[in-house]
Amino acid sequence: MCGIVGYVGHRDVVPLLVDGLKKLEYRGYDSAGIVVVEDGKLSTIKAEGKLDRLRDKLDGSQIHGVYGLGHTRWATHGPPSERNAHPMVDSRQRLALIHNGIIENFLPLKQRLQAEGWSFSSDTDTEVIANLVSSYLDDGNGLQAATQRAVSELRGMYAFACVTTESERQEVMVARQGPPLLLGIGVGTEDQEMFLASDPAALLRYTRNVVFLENGDTARLRVDGYTVWDASGNEVERKVHRLDWDVLQIEKGGYKHFMSKEIHEQPQALQDTLSGRVDFESGRVHLDGFELDQATLRAIRHIHLLACGTSWHAAHVGKFLIEELVRVPVQVDYGSEYRYRDPIVDEHTLAIGITQSGETADTLASMEIARERGGRLATICNVVGSQATRISEGVLYTHAGPEIGVASTKAFTTQLEALYLLAIFLRQARGRELDRSLLDGLAHLPQAVVETLELEGQIEEMARRYHRAQDFLYLGRGLNYPIALEGALKLKEISYIHAEGYPAGEMKHGPIALIDEDLPTVALATGDRVSEKVVSNMLQVKARDGKVIAVTDRDPDELEGSADDILRVPSVGRLLQPIVNVVPLQLLAYHVGVRLGCDVDQPRNLAKSVTVE
Ligand code: AGP
Repeated sequence: MCGIVGYVGHRDVVPLLVDGLKKLEYRGYDSAGIVVVEDGKLSTIKAEGKLDRLRDKLDGSQIHGVYGLGHTRWATHGPPSERNAHPMVDSRQRLALIHNGIIENFLPLKQRLQAEGWSFSSDTDTEVIANLVSSYLDDGNGLQAATQRAVSELRGMYAFACVTTESERQEVMVARQGPPLLLGIGVGTEDQEMFLASDPAALLRYTRNVVFLENGDTARLRVDGYTVWDASGNEVERKVHRLDWDVLQIEKGGYKHFMSKEIHEQPQALQDTLSGRVDFESGRVHLDGFELDQATLRAIRHIHLLACGTSWHAAHVGKFLIEELVRVPVQVDYGSEYRYRDPIVDEHTLAIGITQSGETADTLASMEIARERGGRLATICNVVGSQATRISEGVLYTHAGPEIGVASTKAFTTQLEALYLLAIFLRQARGRELDRSLLDGLAHLPQAVVETLELEGQIEEMARRYHRAQDFLYLGRGLNYPIALEGALKLKEISYIHAEGYPAGEMKHGPIALIDEDLPTVALATGDRVSEKVVSNMLQVKARDGKVIAVTDRDPDELEGSADDILRVPSVGRLLQPIVNVVPLQLLAYHVGVRLGCDVDQPRNLAKSVTVE
């Protein structure tokens, strides 16, 4: 996820762009840049790192102008660096472009443009859009027609804005497909002005009148106003909204907390993590950046998944997925344990660090040990250019975007999705037959999570009834056992209520002694193999006056008498079901924490990334 901002009007554009980027920095902060169009030329300044680095560079520059674009980057293609920072300028140096999203067909477009003589100086997919739009300026098109023609060839997700020295008037063209993009309408009478941004945070200081572009829209911004065209190229009117949010509320997208926002961003995050990686026709998975060749992958005889906290729960799900789909033994280790064990590692070991931040000390240390002992090293990570990605040969990025809430939510579900993609990738690399049905659930996954989020009202009401409990028990079997662990951790870290996750079959070996009317039990009863067994565990809890909250994809009638509350979730197939099942548990933890008045975004004693032992 990146932050984009733009302006055309009468103000000095540089401080305005920097101010807008500052408000968007939470969306991504590994590099930033601006472009100003003045006296018929493009003046571009970019810097790797936080926005302050860009600001320092700007302090020494003489750039001035009244229209331009700004961008703060959350890298997906190409590591964070100045040359990969936006704005991207075409090779004819006449068009600058900023972009949020992922272009799935950037490679064939890049090859075609190179054959036509266009050159490239970055690793990004964005530079392809810049050259593509510029190439259509040659056909005598103005910026509007060139942009719309380029958009017709793009596949993937994009919210982009571009300017060119070829325009006779000061104008910006934008396009949206997927990531948000909105226009801000200047309120001055004598001096008209127009703004654009990824979200209202960057505009609020100047205007509260905004237009949210829809998927497929393109728009042209000029000093005296704007025009919007829909996907069919028809001029359309889009509703002007009057924003009454305060700035902090805006950075949360109107949600009360970042955790709530990020729980609700999961459909988009799952879509972004999937984009460009699956060929649903052939059933093949492509993992760009996973630089371990087929021969290496075929020689792997055991896999070590190394992680901490929530990522360790993801690793546990990964064990089930990889062992079932790849038939290679998988061991899961806490980073803090592995680093002090004497692990057995050789050249046939593939060690994979699973880490949202890519900076967790225990995970990094265990990865280093595996590598020192001859193992091959990979990582599943959410932060481009983080330490875990720098020491790994194979990198599989989750595209969850920045996760601000300390409690991991969208990073977790995209880790599960990435592990599923990795299992299929390893399966095909090792020559096992491709089973297209394995991909069926993936395409439906984001929508299934959208439907699951509709349970929030029911869950908020449940939080009112259960938030005084002193202890919770979470039960699951098989793939749902790690989800039970994750549900318990979410509740603990957000509401400070003690909770334990257990394999449901283990209840009779001790925890059943805890059951009474004050101890709620959350049971995951989905899938086919073992859900009947979980239902019998639920009946054992009920028989001892315990309260049962069931998460299930079965007909509630089948759970008659075994649950006090039933959260019905859509079915996406046994192997992907954990991704859906965890969402109600995230919402339960969140609403219990809110009801208890806890600081759900920054719980006591916790840090987003534990970079020390
Ligand atoms: C989970 O909600 C916590 N934020 C914590 O357990 C986290 O998962 C753990 O510290 C690992 O972090 P990482 O994924 O960035 O390595």
